[in-house]
Amino acid sequence: MIRFIENAEERKEISRQILESLTEWFEVEESREQYIRESADQPFWASVDGDVVEGFLCLKETGKETMELAVMGVRKECHRKGVGRRLFAAARDYASVHGYEFIQVKTVRSGMYEDYDITNEFYKSLGFKELEVLPDYWDELNPCQIYVMSLKSAVNTIAARHSYRGAFLPGSVPEADLITIAKAGIDAPSGCNKQTTDVVIVNDPEVLAQIKGVIDPPVAQTAPAFIVVLTRRINAYRDRCFAIQDYSAAIENMLLAIVELGYQSCWYEGHITDEDRICDKIASILSVPDEYDVVCLLPVGKAADEFHAPSKKPLSERVRLNSWQ
Ligand SMILES: Cc1cc2nc3c(=O)[nH]c(=O)nc-3n(C[C@H](O)[C@H](O)[C@H](O)COP(=O)(O)O)c2cc1C
Repeated sequence: MIRFIENAEERKEISRQILESLTEWFEVEESREQYIRESADQPFWASVDGDVVEGFLCLKETGKETMELAVMGVRKECHRKGVGRRLFAAARDYASVHGYEFIQVKTVRSGMYEDYDITNEFYKSLGFKELEVLPDYWDELNPCQIYVMSLKSAVNTIAARHSYRGAFLPGSVPEADLITIAKAGIDAPSGCNKQTTDVVIVNDPEVLAQIKGVIDPPVAQTAPAFIVVLTRRINAYRDRCFAIQDYSAAIENMLLAIVELGYQSCWYEGHITDEDRICDKIASILSVPDEYDVVCLLPVGKAADEFHAPSKKPLSERVRLNSWQ
């Protein structure tokens, strides 16, 4: 299980425990102590199994748009169990939702030492790309390889998206961003290209207040903007209606655009389409024509609260290759 560690003393304790067990990589005491000291103030994750800490990772900001994987260590007996990958996934999500564009990491260039060759292969397998080698950054026996990863790829944004149900920071969302998000929605595929999904962007404080007033129990009350998703339930061909598939694709596109632009959201469909038909009240506030149904509400805003990925079944339980076995 991956835990975000808040406490500075716990961070130092964990990094000491792990780094002192990995002297092949962290041999020089002075730099090991520096890593331990600095880890106290950095975003920090630990992988824990019961009482055992398997490994840790911490990030540091090296520029307005860039985080560095400052240090990571996994106990040798826990290598090749996916611990490093899970730690990195948590850190990458964090950097992505906090609006960073790149993650960099430095290590000793391949071809120098066997242990570091493994490290290089590990970073490349995570998706890092070679940026540059700096021969004198450390010393001539340890040429520094810098790897970089862009966080603004579709695959990374998909991994970083999670439903956000916390409070939003005050302040409006620029209209250009709301239009970019809406465009991502209408760019989605639709059955027979019938384009059955429409959206209404809401950022007028009075209209927002009216919508918030009919959401009971209340959700997204601090959102500075809403994207209201509408569907027209017409057939694509013969008696086949793909309106649900059409608006689902549009919603997912918009959720991804929202996250990529540094905002958060949640797919509120169940909540507004229940027996109390909040969706119809929203439709009436927005003067939506009868042939359209309001099906989903997406708040858009900057997150005020921390949040974490929900637990999901492991890939091996849901993804199979070539047959069910
Ligand atoms: C069709 C649909 C309806 C949903 N309706 C709601 C809702 O009414 N309220 C809510 O809090 N989340 C709603 N969600 C969000 C899911 O609860 C959420 O996607 C799920 O728990 C997985 O979490 P994740 O989005 O962080 O991966 C809905 C999601 C889908 C796909």
